[in-house]
This record gives sequence, structure tokens and C-alpha cells, in this order.
Amino acid sequence: MTPKPYTHKDAVPYRPLDWTGLYPPAYPKGAVPNHVALVMDGNGRWANRRGLTRIEGHRAGESTLLDVVAGAIQAGVRHLSVYAFSTENWARSPDEVRFLMGFNREVLHRRRDQLNEWGVQVRWAGRRPRLWGSVVRELEYAQRLTAGNDVLTLTMCVNYGGRVELIDAMRSIAEDVAAGRLKPSAVSEKLVQRRLYVPDMPDVDLFVRSSGEQRTSNFLLWESAYAEFVFLDTLWPDFTREHLWRAIDVYLDRDRRFGGAVDAPDTAL
Ligand code: IPE
Ligand code: IPE
Ligand code: MG
Repeated sequence: MTPKPYTHKDAVPYRPLDWTGLYPPAYPKGAVPNHVALVMDGNGRWANRRGLTRIEGHRAGESTLLDVVAGAIQAGVRHLSVYAFSTENWARSPDEVRFLMGFNREVLHRRRDQLNEWGVQVRWAGRRPRLWGSVVRELEYAQRLTAGNDVLTLTMCVNYGGRVELIDAMRSIAEDVAAGRLKPSAVSEKLVQRRLYVPDMPDVDLFVRSSGEQRTSNFLLWESAYAEFVFLDTLWPDFTREHLWRAIDVYLDRDRRFGGAVDAPDTAL
């Protein structure tokens, strides 16, 4: 892929996927997690430790996202869902919230052509009320622009919360039941799935969080029911594609049983 010059004032030059010169290990066929969920955490701590404001930490995280998307494509991951702004993040200072809204909009604007060039399909998961209209417009534009791509689906989770996602699904089911369009006995896993923000999103295989915190913070609760969790201490602005590959290595060593069990007495005893 030949890097192209950039013309728009907000655009950034195109880069080939392997601009860092790094390549993932050769994974066994079919072993790579199909869907990786990523909590991009630690921007504020990264900045404060350098005597900078939290906002500078968010800025520093932008290039990490692009690096990790490229690394996910190299590894053969098909779905990457990133937590960009949670329904709980409204609790932050008005200045930080304002910054994060504008920043999400700008990052989408600046990076969409590059993502499109890589064959990334951008999608949005989140709740519409309260989210800035200009952010929704950028998300929808990026969705339309990249709708035909199938190398990697990048779901931007903006104003996303696992509980409100389930509440919204329950409401829509309850409305159908109350109107007589649906029998309570028809409520199944499949039906709930179809009422989620992205109905065709596959289950999360690998859930990664940067920054050392070991919690979900309300991310993809339903979708991660059987995910493998890998927590890395690196703060998000220091995170690279190699950290993602390390998390995939840890994942590959896990034994996913999904509730099943196989008898295998140790013969060496
Ligand atoms: C993650 O970094 C980015 C968002 C939540 C938007 P934080 O802002 O949570 O950084 P820490 O966790 O306070 O260091
Ligand atoms: C989760 O991180 C949300 C995002 C990364 C967007 P937070 O930093 O907001 O979560 P808590 O407050 O540590 O649980
Ligand atoms: Mg945090």
C-alpha cells in the first residue's frame, strides 16, 4: 500500500498497516480471538504522572488506537470493540466531558479515511440521548463510508453502558409484549441478542483492559459472558500493538470450557 499525501487540514497521512516494521507471531489456524473487547484506560494517570492535565493523556491515546487497530488486523482479529466513553463518564468534570465529546468527533473525522483504506468497517454502539449530535453525525458518517469493508469491524462504544444496553433491550421487548406482538414465552437468548445495540455483534472472546484496573466498568456485559479476561498494567498512551499480541498469547494458553468438562486423569501418577 503506497502512503498517500494528505490534503485535508484535519487528515493525517496514510500509513501501511506495518509502518512500525513489527509482525505478530504465526498463530495456529483458527486460534486467534474473533472478537476482542478493549477498555482503553489510564490516560489521566499517564498525563498526571508527567505533570500534564488529563486532557493531554486523552490526546496521547489517539495514536495508540490506530496502532492497535493495525495490530489487530495483522493478527487476524475480525472484530474489535473499544470503550471510548461510558455512560458513567458523564460524572467527570464538565471540561473533561466537553473535551472528550469534541475529541471523539475529531478522531473519527481525522482517522476515518485511514481506517477505510485499511478495510475497517466502523460501527457505533451506545445510547443516543445526551450524546452530542455532532458526535453521532461523525459516527454515522464513518459507518456509511466504511459500510462495505470487511477486514475488521471496529465498534466504537461511545456513550455505551452494558446495563443501559440491557435496559433498552428489555424496554423494547416489554413494549412488544404489552402491545400483544410478542408472547413472554418467546423471550430467549436469541431475542435479547437481537435487541442489543449491534444485534449481529459476536460474543467477546478476549476482553483486554489496560492500566492495571481489574474490572469491567460496565463494558459489554451480555457479550462478554464467556470472554477470557486479560489485564495489562500498561497505561493506554504507552500501549502498543505488541501489548495486544501479548494479550492474545495469554488467551491462547487459556482452556475455554464453556461449562463443559472432559475427564483426563493424569497418567504420570
Ligand atoms: C480512559 O482513561 C479514557 C476514558 C475513560 C475516556 P481515563 O481517563 O479513565 O484515565 P485514568 O483511568 O483516570 O488514568
Ligand atoms: C472505563 O474506564 C471507560 C472507558 C475506558 C471509556 P473508566 O476509567 O471510566 O472506569 P472506572 O471509573 O475506572 O471504573
Ligand atoms: Mg480510567
